[in-house]
Parts: sequence; C-alpha cells; structure tokens
Amino acid sequence: MPDDLLFSAAVNGARARRLIPASRSLLDLLRDDLQLTGTRHGCDVGDCGACTVLVDGSPRLSCITLAAEVEGAEIRTIEGLPWGPIHAAFDRHVAAQCGYCTPGIVLCLHALLAEQPAATEADLRESLGSNICRCTGYTKILDAARDARDARARETA
Ligand code: FES
Ligand code: FES
Repeated sequence: MPDDLLFSAAVNGARARRLIPASRSLLDLLRDDLQLTGTRHGCDVGDCGACTVLVDGSPRLSCITLAAEVEGAEIRTIEGLPWGPIHAAFDRHVAAQCGYCTPGIVLCLHALLAEQPAATEADLRESLGSNICRCTGYTKILDAARDARDARARETA
C-alpha cells in the first residue's frame, strides 16, 4: 500500500516493527497491533488522559499522536513500568476504583517524580491536571501521589 510505512521503535524495551498506515495513531498501534491494552481508549480527542504513555520519558497523549511521529523513540506503556513506590502507594490508598484512568495517572506521576523527586503539592496536582478520573474524586489519588513521592525519597536516601 503506498500510504503504509514501516514503523520501528523501542516499546517497553523491545524493538517493535510493524507495517502500518501512515494515519495510524499511536494508541491504535499500541492497543491493536501490539496488544498493549493497558493504554486506555477514552475520549479519543486529547481531553481525558486515559491514553497517556511515555515517549522518551515524557507523558504523551497517544490518541492524538501519530505513530509516525514517534518513529525511533523509546515508548513506555503501563505494562513496561515495573512495580514500584507509585503502584504500592495506589494499592495502600485504594486510589484505583474502576482503574480506567490509573495507567495514565501512574505514568504521569512516574515521569514527574523521575524529573522532580521533591515535587511540591502544586507539581503533583499539575502533573495530574490532564487526567480525568470519574470515580475517586481525586483525594485518594493525591494521597497516593504524596505517599509515593515520600516513599521514593526514603528509598533513595
Ligand atoms: Fe486520549 Fe482521552 S483517549 S486523551
Ligand atoms: Fe475510575 Fe479513575 S478510577 S476513572
């Protein structure tokens, strides 16, 4: 097909190569071609944050990103994030209810704390500002975020 392209990128540490239509979104590539369904399909227009993945360490909305735009990048989905202080804090605080928003939120927090281990309350809130949660009212998520930041700091002290 003339509009197809050969996509190649590191996804969760492994090389992924696929012949895909040039119009393929990163979200569809991850979910449909690579079966990485932890990346959620929400609004599809960049409003909810459910589809967030990390591209070269930074959060990116995969529903409004063409796979072709991230050719050659390092992509990490929730499946590629090993259990750590953020997961443990979400568990302790019961910060996931239906869990639909959780992968995107965990990845945003991971990116923030990797860059700013001493993130302030404002930093934590800002990093989650593009993630909609319909279940928790955000209180438990913020409790978990603070706890994860503090646990991470203790681990690295
Ligand atoms: Fe991408 Fe909602 S599905 S922002
Ligand atoms: Fe259900 Fe956040 S836990 S949308």
